[in-house]
Amino acid sequence: MIADPQFDRFVARLHGIMGEMQDDGAKAEAVGEALRALAASGWRIPDARYRQMQPDAPYGSYLLHLDPGSGLCVVLDVFGVGQVAAIHDHGGWGAFACLEGKEIERRYALRDGVPVEVAVTEMPPGAVAVVAPPGDGFHQVECASPEPSISLHVYGVDIGRAVRKRWNRKARAFEPFSSGYSNDVVGLPVYRPAIPA
Ligand SMILES: [Fe+2]
Repeated sequence: MIADPQFDRFVARLHGIMGEMQDDGAKAEAVGEALRALAASGWRIPDARYRQMQPDAPYGSYLLHLDPGSGLCVVLDVFGVGQVAAIHDHGGWGAFACLEGKEIERRYALRDGVPVEVAVTEMPPGAVAVVAPPGDGFHQVECASPEPSISLHVYGVDIGRAVRKRWNRKARAFEPFSSGYSNDVVGLPVYRPAIPA
């Protein structure tokens, strides 16, 4: 395992937040602050295997850490140039930071069951977005840079295995989906499977 003390300290801080806070909104805000600090430090994952696109897909989504007890889940997403994710929810709170390239985040409110865009935010490296339902759980993220964008995401659920909602534009309806992890496709272990000491 490649040494990555900065990331190990970040994960330890996240576990501290899970232990200290009960309210989901407060957890998400505190996690957002931890993400802001990590992004500002210039952290980049030192193991390049976790930065690759998934074969035959315009993205990669790598599980870096998962704590089944608290649901704490840390994922690194790599978006290819022009990649646009469908509008989706997260089944709970979440926060993410752009680390490289640039992303655009669009927020949606539901009106008569249909998502209506209510905010658009440009996310250069260092920018952090916090999603804490109820009310603002639906969003869409796209790569807006001429090179792939990389962002670090933290959730309160095993996001790749949870069944969530995704907007099908053609059918104009939400459909259930499970996003999975690129680890399973390329044969990579969870980056940090255990809680750092
Ligand atoms: Fe998302």
